[in-house]
Amino acid sequence: MTAFADLIFPVLELAQARSVVEIGADTGGMTTLLANHCLHHGGRLTSVDPAPTPEFRMWASLNAQVRHIDLPSLDAFPELADIDAWVIDGDHNWYTVYNEITEAHRICRRDGKPLLAFFHDVSWPCARRDMYYAPERIPAEFRHPHSRNGGVTLDNPGLLENRGFRGGQNFAWADHEGGERNGVLTAIEDFMSDCQRAGREFGFAEIPGILGLGVLFDLDAPWSGAVAELLLPYHQNKLLRLVEEDRLRNSLWAHELRDAAAARSA
Ligand SMILES: C[S@@+](CC[C@H](N)C(=O)[O-])C[C@H]1O[C@@H](n2cnc3c(N)ncnc32)[C@H](O)[C@@H]1O
Repeated sequence: MTAFADLIFPVLELAQARSVVEIGADTGGMTTLLANHCLHHGGRLTSVDPAPTPEFRMWASLNAQVRHIDLPSLDAFPELADIDAWVIDGDHNWYTVYNEITEAHRICRRDGKPLLAFFHDVSWPCARRDMYYAPERIPAEFRHPHSRNGGVTLDNPGLLENRGFRGGQNFAWADHEGGERNGVLTAIEDFMSDCQRAGREFGFAEIPGILGLGVLFDLDAPWSGAVAELLLPYHQNKLLRLVEEDRLRNSLWAHELRDAAAARSA
C-alpha cells in the first residue's frame, strides 16, 4: 500500500479523515504512515490483523493513537464506530471483501459518515481470482477449490503446479480465475451493483499499477468532486496498465529462473 501513499494521503486530506481503519497490517509499513496522518489530525488509527509480525504488535502497543485489534476483519466490525476512511488489504477473496465493504457501509450509514474505502489488489492476480490466507475461515459455499502449491501466471485462468506466483505456507489460490463470486474487483463490483439496485451510487477509481488500488467513495460526500478530479487521470490509465503488465512479466520470468535453478539443484 505504501506505493500509493502519494494518492491515498491527498484523498484523506480532501476528506478530512481523522479516524481511519486499516485491515491487514502485516509488518506495518502503511500503518506507520496512517498513524502519523491520524496523529497530525487529532484522530485515531485502528488496525485489524489476526497475524501481524511480533514487531508490529510491539510498535502498536507503544503508540497511543493506534489501537490494534487482533482478529480477522469480519469479527472486528462490532468494535468499530465513527470511521472516516477504510484501508482494506487483508484477505483477498470475494467473501471477505464483499462482507468488509458491506459492513463498512453499514457502519458509515449508522454513524452518519460518508463511505471512503481504499482497496489493494484490485488488479491481476486477485481481481478475478480468490486467494485465501485461511481457507477454513471462508464458509464452504463461498470457497472455491484451491491450492497452496499451484501458481498463477498471466494468460492462464488455471494454476500451474509448483510454478508462477504461489503462496506455499502463506496462502492458497482458487484453482480458477473468473466466474461468479471470485476475486477482489468482483466483490467491489457486486457491492456497487447491489447498492445501485437500491438507488445508491458510488464513485470508484481503479488504478492499475502495483497490483491495483481501488478507491470507493460516496458521491453524496461534500468532497467527492475533488476526490474524483484528483483520481481521474489514474483511473484505468492505459500507460500504467502497460507498465504493470511489463513488471509482472519480468517478475514471473524471475520466478521461472529461480524455480529452474531449484529444480537443477534438487
Ligand atoms: C498483504 S498483507 C498487508 C500489507 C500491508 N497493508 C502493507 O501495506 O504493508 C495482508 C495482511 O492481511 C492479514 N490478514 C489476512 N486475513 C485477514 C483478515 N481476515 N482480516 C484482517 N487481516 C487479515 C495478514 O495477516 C497479512 O498481515
